[in-house]
Amino acid sequence: MARIPDAFIDDLIARTDIVELIGARVPLKRAGREYQGLCPFHDERSPSFTVSQTKQFYHCFGCGAHGSALRFLMEYDKLEFLDAVEELARRNGMEVPRETRQRNEDGHLRQMFGILDAATHWFSGQLVASKRALDYFARRGIDAATRERFSLGYAPEGFDGLKNALGTDPESLRLLEQTGMLARSDGGHVYDRFRERVIFPIHDRRGRPIAFGGRIIGKTTADGREAGPKYLNSPETPLFHKGRELYGLWQVRQAHSKIPRLIVVEGYMDVVALFQYGIATAVATLGTATTPEHAELLFRNAADVFFCFDGDGAGRRAAWKALESVLPRMKEGRQAAFLFLPEGEDPDSVVRKEGSAGFEARLAQAEPLSEFFFREQAADTNLNTLDGRARLAERCKPLLENIPDGAFRDLMFQRLSELTGLSQAPRATTPVSAAPRRRSDARAPRLSLVRNIITLLLHNPALGLEIHPPYRFAHLRQPGIGLLIELLELIHVSPSIRTGAILEHFSGRDEAAALEKLSLTEIPGDSRGWQEAVVQGIEKLVAQTREQRLGELKSRDLSTLSSDEKRELGELLLARA
Ligand code: UTP
Ligand code: MN
Repeated sequence: MARIPDAFIDDLIARTDIVELIGARVPLKRAGREYQGLCPFHDERSPSFTVSQTKQFYHCFGCGAHGSALRFLMEYDKLEFLDAVEELARRNGMEVPRETRQRNEDGHLRQMFGILDAATHWFSGQLVASKRALDYFARRGIDAATRERFSLGYAPEGFDGLKNALGTDPESLRLLEQTGMLARSDGGHVYDRFRERVIFPIHDRRGRPIAFGGRIIGKTTADGREAGPKYLNSPETPLFHKGRELYGLWQVRQAHSKIPRLIVVEGYMDVVALFQYGIATAVATLGTATTPEHAELLFRNAADVFFCFDGDGAGRRAAWKALESVLPRMKEGRQAAFLFLPEGEDPDSVVRKEGSAGFEARLAQAEPLSEFFFREQAADTNLNTLDGRARLAERCKPLLENIPDGAFRDLMFQRLSELTGLSQAPRATTPVSAAPRRRSDARAPRLSLVRNIITLLLHNPALGLEIHPPYRFAHLRQPGIGLLIELLELIHVSPSIRTGAILEHFSGRDEAAALEKLSLTEIPGDSRGWQEAVVQGIEKLVAQTREQRLGELKSRDLSTLSSDEKRELGELLLARA
């Protein structure tokens, strides 16, 4: 890869008007010497995102996002470093300096992109001309709009349709071969790689086709031969490395200014079918396991990533591979969850049978990474024996060491201690002496009743299972009531949820920091009394709600009360007596 001189980057940033760049994407208002707006990197209601013209810098006091114009383009437009440099240079009318060798190579790359673009057009022209191919997509419920969105096409039968159409000179023939569009027989004969297949172009992050997937449309070909493998992909080429690409990512990015989450599925058709049903956040790996590069790409685009697999053995193995790629990237605020579908189903078949609501309902039940991790690791271990617990600890530790510092890492180690009864190593890069200070900080505040209950629930979510709806304190006007109810609902939906997953659930929201702090608070007293404390606390809230209502009713003139309200008043007075 070409090296770009640091001085050029500095110059580029200095010449860029950061207020104009960001202002074109995020509404900004002048506030003194700086500009302010709502942070595009986290949800907030009052602006804590500031852009400084003089410092050529942005900073969010809410989530800590900060950086230069270049960083902003990478984070906001989801560009790779080099693409962000190109983009800024283009805006400023500057040319990115590279070595001459590189420049020639660029010319060649451009030609390769060009021929693949031409191939995409040729394939889509063939599709609309083929009744058989159109019927195939119709049978699978794919309409014209979805076909266009994915630039779907058709490679007709015969060995030289594409070759004759685009390979009109030796140079084009060479490009077609280099981009994997033509295959070469042992005898040196060159012919179309994709034949009698519907075509799924694979786009790069700028929307350029870089490779293709082709699917057979029948068991046998038109002339009665075996149709070959179900899916055929372009080979690896200078433009295409399948371990780095995600099918559908371009379309997902086109459909959102801020991608709320990504769903990783296994097949082309799964991505396309989910889009057809309005779920525009699915991407697929291309017949490979989820690589670390995939994981990086996923999280660079969205903070929440769902992995969707078959429920069979192969699916579980694939899920574990994904988990291994994801663990080292579980920075603060990111979440991963795993969804296993019943045997024989894939997202395509599920969304067809159950609709998008059915598929969303399954997603809502996806297993958080932490649960999947410990369930898999403990699957063949007897935790009733000391041996078994020691083995679990040994097996988990090296994996957990890969998690970046932060609350998630701490909670995973804490969970491991709970499971094994063995104390775990402290955080790798934080000096041990830092721990006591945080604890004494945390012990200081005297908590309100609501906060107290929330804290207990955070430490031991299962305590909430004893509290059933209807929540008769729901109308109490006190801070935190809404949050408490949300927490209880979450616990009832996922009875085995743990602190880490709760924090993950709220990450990115305004409440996240407070919850994290409460989860680190030390609770005085014996944990055997916690259940009592929660139940009694809730009873107190219910009593306070009654008092609040009583106050409301008493403050009104008796003659304005309806008969129901009068009865309610009587009952409230009685209950207090
Ligand atoms: P599946 O066989 O599960 O296909 O392969 P699918 O997506 O459900 O396809 P339909 O619904 O039958 O059309 C999943 C993925 O594995 C890769 C492809 O990327 C495919 O989308 N694959 C599968 C291949 O590369 N080659 C094959 O022969 C089969
Ligand atoms: Mn399928």
